[in-house]
Amino acid sequence: MKQRFHFFATCPRGLEAVLSDELQQLGAEEVAATDGGVAFRGDWALMMTANLHSRIASRILWSLLEKPYRSEDDIYRAARALDWPELFSVERTIKVAVTGIGCKLRSLDFVALKVKDAICDAFRAAVDARPSVDTVAPDMRIHVFLTEKMLTLYLDTSGDALFKRGYRRETGEAPLRENLAAGILRLTGWQPGEPLLDPMCGSGTFLIEAALIARGIAPGGKRSFAFERYPQFDADAWARVKEAALAKERPVESISIYGSDDNAAMLSICRTNLAAAGVADCVELSRADALERSAPAEQGVLVCNPPYGIRLEEQESLAVLYPLLGHALKQRFAGWRAYYFTGDLRLAKLIRLAASKRTVLFNGGLECRLFEYRMVAGSNRKPA
Ligand SMILES: C[S@@+](CC[C@H](N)C(=O)[O-])C[C@H]1O[C@@H](n2cnc3c(N)ncnc32)[C@H](O)[C@@H]1O
Repeated sequence: MKQRFHFFATCPRGLEAVLSDELQQLGAEEVAATDGGVAFRGDWALMMTANLHSRIASRILWSLLEKPYRSEDDIYRAARALDWPELFSVERTIKVAVTGIGCKLRSLDFVALKVKDAICDAFRAAVDARPSVDTVAPDMRIHVFLTEKMLTLYLDTSGDALFKRGYRRETGEAPLRENLAAGILRLTGWQPGEPLLDPMCGSGTFLIEAALIARGIAPGGKRSFAFERYPQFDADAWARVKEAALAKERPVESISIYGSDDNAAMLSICRTNLAAAGVADCVELSRADALERSAPAEQGVLVCNPPYGIRLEEQESLAVLYPLLGHALKQRFAGWRAYYFTGDLRLAKLIRLAASKRTVLFNGGLECRLFEYRMVAGSNRKPA
């Protein structure tokens, strides 16, 4: 019997349900969604598979211990009792991050310090040396999660967050995180082969994520992971997981993913990113005003995140743009399902269409909405 472990996959809030589905499809067991992520069980191969294939997770954390605590000293003792030198070598740099929900302790920074001390003390006792701290690019990230009474200690198996796929060459302004874009695509119900259009594509995050899905390309194929630096890392098993992923890649027979933007510089950034991701031939790009462009097919999925602004002038110009977006949808996209992702909650009113669904999602700390509009000829228009 292969040994099984407890893991926790973090994700942008609002994507927990679609992440659960994804992890189940990857073979995870005992999958349980909670606020901000999904707990699951599986063996070591599953952990590698989840890192390589999850399009929605931000990180895959390996749960080392879970126990009740009352004080900082309890946390120190719990952390000190773990066999850290067996988990990674003393040459590896470390960073301890602490989050709490309902935790009554006075300072989470102090907890981070206690756990770092516990790890260093464990190394000193075992090998007479301690690992260095690197808060910017550590080899090993240790996550401490505290509720009012329970402590969970995790070792991060991912390293860099999983939305860093390794294909983004240039960002442009306000690009979406890749895992948020992939989660939104899943929420739309879009399936490869169905026409997909982002008429405000910017650096191309939706287009690239959709093209990777259509081609069956694993999102993590171009990057490395923290678990590759563990002493027990099994290079042969990892090679098998990667080979299996490559075998699942497929060509696309005809283009059904379309993108446009009215800004030539953004389109050039988008082209560079599509090429770096190896999917330039899956997407048809053009320069167009979203208010004027026509639908590339009779039906399909339109997805975009329109410009978003905080300054007063920006807010005023967006208040002009949103009703025009609604008008353009109505005029030219009958038969389509349209999805607008925005942090500007005024869009719901200003677009003057009846949303068939509203999903609350968080982009970092910013509360956003994904509005769904099912465009049926002659309906949707709200009274002025
Ligand atoms: C928030 S950004 C989209 C970012 C994109 N999702 C990404 O991940 O990079 C909004 C984009 O809308 C484009 N845009 C603004 N008004 C437009 C219009 N009328 N027609 C087409 N594109 C427009 C901007 O050039 C910008 O690239």
